[in-house]
This record gives sequence, structure tokens and C-alpha cells, in this order.
Amino acid sequence: MIMSKEKKYHASCLRVPSNSLMLLLFIFGMTLSSTIALVSPLAGFSLHKVKLRNNDSSPYCFAATVDPTKETVDIKYNFLATQVWPSARQASFVLEKYVDRSWKVCEFGCGPALPSLVMAGLGLPKVFATDLDMVALNMVEKAANEQGFDNLVTKRVDLTAEPENILKSINADLYLMSDVFENGAVAQGAALFTIKALEAGSRVWTFAQSDRAQRDIYLKELEILGAEKYGSITWKMADLSSDNVPDEMLLLFDLDEVNVNYG
Ligand SMILES: C[S@@+](CC[C@H](N)C(=O)[O-])C[C@H]1O[C@@H](n2cnc3c(N)ncnc32)[C@H](O)[C@@H]1O
Repeated sequence: MIMSKEKKYHASCLRVPSNSLMLLLFIFGMTLSSTIALVSPLAGFSLHKVKLRNNDSSPYCFAATVDPTKETVDIKYNFLATQVWPSARQASFVLEKYVDRSWKVCEFGCGPALPSLVMAGLGLPKVFATDLDMVALNMVEKAANEQGFDNLVTKRVDLTAEPENILKSINADLYLMSDVFENGAVAQGAALFTIKALEAGSRVWTFAQSDRAQRDIYLKELEILGAEKYGSITWKMADLSSDNVPDEMLLLFDLDEVNVNYG
């Protein structure tokens, strides 16, 4: 009789901590899963600053410090979107000199978005930095937050999508692209975005280095779409010595990647 009472007692003593343990495990599991859900796409990347100029007041973007053959980061990310390409530096210097400070500007395929961050630093009313790649957009947001650029917003935009509604929702004075032609489909999509933006009354400035084979697909597509009425359909070097703001609606900037200014 006594024995059975003791047994009962021990058994009920064990039940209480076991229920609490279950509850604790449940809470821990819930917290862990919501934390994982909130983990930034930047988790696993180490970042470094890339300045426009080598001085303390220079605007900067972030680039990822990765060895694509070794890093244990999510393989779904696009390595090209985490690096600053020579076109972006050239675009930044051209914009710094010629962009109208009252314009609303949108960059497509921005990657780390050095040009967008430079324009945000110039105090333009609104700058949209857009890309397909979420890692790139997260790097841009981090750089904008750190520099207090609340005039910059990021948006996921696919250049192979239908442009009309996207352009309507952004409604920029100037659209910018630097080195976005990763493949033929993007080059063709970029041409469609370009002509639709021009037809809506916006400017388009496109930068591409000469060894990007797909830049000629973009050019050919622009010709087919009748873009020549908005500007000359040829790649031209930017002449930064001129003080005159280029007045053509469509400008195609060539660049010599070996002689890009690194500040
Ligand atoms: C060579 S990187 C250039 C990045 C940046 N513009 C620069 O010059 O430093 C090409 C960029 O195009 C973006 N891209 C590729 N396909 C795209 C698409 N379908 N829509 C939008 N962006 C795309 C990539 O994510 C990447 O950021």
C-alpha cells in the first residue's frame, strides 16, 4: 500500500517537469524557426566597403568578400550581383557630374548599386535601386541605412518581365543600367524596358563595357523597336570634360574598363 503511494508520488513528480520540458521545447522550437525565417539573405557573407573616392566623405556601397569556389554560402545567389563592375564606377562619375538634382532616378540590375548610392548622397528626391537578386538588394539597404540615405528604396525588378506596370509604379525621370547584360534574354528585356521608358517620356542612360557580347543584342533590339528617334544608337565614350548636360533622351555609354577612374 505504502509502496504504491510512493510510486504514485514519484510518477506525478515526473509528469510535472516532463510537461514543462515539452512546453519549453515547444517555445524554443517556435523561437528558433521564426529566427531562421528572419535571417537576412546576407547571413554567411562578409562584406567590405567600396568607395567612389578614397576619402572619408565618399559615398560607398558594399561588395561581398567571397571566393565563389570555396564559400559555404547559399549557392542560389548570383556572384556577379555582389561585385562592383567598372561600368558602375563610370556611371557614378557621369551621374555625379550630369544628373539633375531634382530628378527621380531608377537603376535596373543595380547589384551593389554604387551609382544609386552616389545619387542618394547627392540628395535626389528619390532613388530606386532595383535588381533580381535579393542578396544585392540587402547589401544596398545596409549601405543606405548606414549612410542615412532615406531617399533610396530598393525594389525587386526582373528585366525579363513585362515592363509597363513596373515602369508605371516607378515613374522615374531617368532610368539607368550599368553592365546588366548577363545573357541575351536580359539584353532583350532591357531593350523593351528602355523603349517603354522612352515612350513614357523618361530618359535612359545605359553603360556597358565593350567586351560584353550581349550589349550588341541590346543595340539590335533597340533598332528593331525604333529607339533611334530618342538618341543615337551607338556606344559612345562619356566626355566628362564637357560642362553641357547631354540632352538626348537615350544615351549609350561605352567605357574602357582598363582606364576607369578608381578614385
Ligand atoms: C555584372 S552585374 C552588374 C552589377 C552592377 N550594375 C554593376 O555594374 O556593378 C549584372 C547585374 O544584373 C542583374 N541581373 C541579371 N539578370 C537580371 C534580370 N533578369 N533582372 C534584373 N537584374 C538582373 C544581376 O543580378 C547583377 O546584379
